[in-house]
Amino acid sequence: GLMAASAMHAAEPFLVAHRGASHDAPENTVPSYELAWKQGADAIEGDFHLTKDGKIICIHDYDTARVCGTKLVVKDSTLAELQALDAGAWFKPEFKGTKLSTLREVAATVPAGKKIYVEVKIGPEIIPTMLEDLKASGLKDEQIVIISFQADVIAEMKKVKPAYKACWLASFEKESPLKPSKDEVLATLRKIKADGFSSKADERLDPEFVKAIRDGGFEYHCWTVDDAATARRFLDFGALSITTNRPEFLRKALGEA
Ligand code: G3P
Ligand code: CA
Repeated sequence: GLMAASAMHAAEPFLVAHRGASHDAPENTVPSYELAWKQGADAIEGDFHLTKDGKIICIHDYDTARVCGTKLVVKDSTLAELQALDAGAWFKPEFKGTKLSTLREVAATVPAGKKIYVEVKIGPEIIPTMLEDLKASGLKDEQIVIISFQADVIAEMKKVKPAYKACWLASFEKESPLKPSKDEVLATLRKIKADGFSSKADERLDPEFVKAIRDGGFEYHCWTVDDAATARRFLDFGALSITTNRPEFLRKALGEA
């Protein structure tokens, strides 16, 4: 019989704010995360590196050129040097004076019951400090999801802190068929004991690929989706979360679709 679309899609989609509400505020900064929570995000996502003095800082690139206008290489600079730069003016004049933030500062924005997807952009050497910072944040284990393109980071994290969910990330190479293939993805997930796989929302990805991941006992997530049609397609495949730059806009668009 006929079923209303709202009934078919009863569950609220789980939306992860990519670098915060980064369509509307400078990515990977506290204002971007505060705005994500105001926009109704279920989780935030951020990119993390180690500074020269061993602190964890939230920034996507390996240097500050794109978001600060001045180039400091993150691993060769101290936290103080990095935080002296302006990470907001490039985006819009109203964000002038915004600083880069530490993992602790970002984690402190996470409300009770909400989650943080911590993306490790470097190798497993970040893990001991990351565990200290996350413990100090007071967040519960179930509020924390570790993500990384680096399989060795996920493997090491699951070894030392199995209570944190950890998902392996991959983009697919340009040529068809999809590379890595579903068998390669499954083999990696098993080897590193990941909880799940998170891919770019590649238009070539089909329901069979996602079904194989899920039948293997793994979660499937995707990024970065700002339009309702793509989000709906991936939710229907069985994606457990959608990472988006526009949580408020996408939730509303999904509700109307
Ligand atoms: O959520 C995963 C996604 O953020 C990975 O790509 O380049 O935006 O860090 P990137
Ligand atoms: Ca990221």
